[in-house]
Amino acid sequence: MAKLEIIKLPDPLLREISAPVEQVDSNINQLFDDMLDTMYAAPGIGLAAIQVAVPKRMVVIDIADDPEKRNPLCMVNPKIVKRSDILRPYEEGCLSLPDVLVDIERPDTVTIEYIDRQGKQQTLEADDILATAIQHEVDHLDGKLIIDFLSRLKRDIIVRRFKKQARQTA
Ligand code: NI
Repeated sequence: MAKLEIIKLPDPLLREISAPVEQVDSNINQLFDDMLDTMYAAPGIGLAAIQVAVPKRMVVIDIADDPEKRNPLCMVNPKIVKRSDILRPYEEGCLSLPDVLVDIERPDTVTIEYIDRQGKQQTLEADDILATAIQHEVDHLDGKLIIDFLSRLKRDIIVRRFKKQARQTA
């Protein structure tokens, strides 16, 4: 297991569309272990493979706030197949956008189809914060970020700030 580097805005990779995983093998499972290490160390409740610079449709989520009660969800090729009409607002952060919080309204309940670590097809109905986390991470696989829910003006201000920071630390 290894902790990987999390890429941050303005890294253009964050805008890439990740490719489906063809086969769940030991390499995929190794990457899941490394992604979990990276997420727990951050700490965060979700991480998409593209955030560690791997453009594959893979997501890890663990909404447990107690390290004793870890319950990781590892998803390959996740697809949201049903969304509730009821929306719920949540203030979202992202490990690739440190110190940015965005109020986002998303469907409160979603049904998701994915392939698990054993290569088995699964269906999960999720609500509340788990539903939010899943939608946030699936967005990453399509190159979408929380700042895309903001007005163009607010988004540009944040992007400019990150570009400036990247120049200063380069
Ligand atoms: Ni994120």
